[in-house]
Amino acid sequence: MRFALGCDHGGFSLKQRVAAVVIAAGHEVVDCGTDSDCSVDYPDFARKVGETILAHRAERGILLCGSGVGISVAANKIPGIRAGVCHDTYSAHQGVEHDDMNVLCIGARIVGEEVAVELVRAFVSAKFTNEERHLRRLNKLRQIEQDALAGKFS
Ligand code: RB5
Repeated sequence: MRFALGCDHGGFSLKQRVAAVVIAAGHEVVDCGTDSDCSVDYPDFARKVGETILAHRAERGILLCGSGVGISVAANKIPGIRAGVCHDTYSAHQGVEHDDMNVLCIGARIVGEEVAVELVRAFVSAKFTNEERHLRRLNKLRQIEQDALAGKFS
């Protein structure tokens, strides 16, 4: 599987380690930046990862910022992206299995590097169950997106 990997300056210190973990698990990385610890804006990198997934250049994504919050909020603005901040391994795999989470967000200032490695391993090896109740909920998420795009919330 191909994983789009993006971060802001708050997540940059973790990015190379995350990339190595993804590759060691037998997957590919599509690096969406940033490429230094210079201050940048996290929405730009959430956008790049989202665009990469929607363009089918990657199947899933991993986003890193200081807390994981800003970059997950930004990613979830993109229809078709289901991003979650996960700082425990149960959520990192269950989010895929039940919710078809396609972007894992980690706060590099919140969890240590070894915890982040375990989160990434749990996420990359997880699969959506395709069970009826989860498909039903996924379809409801898609309906929310369609209704919002159609202006039904305004
Ligand atoms: C950057 O300083 C920081 O605000 C950002 O990485 C993130 O934590 C936002 O949610």
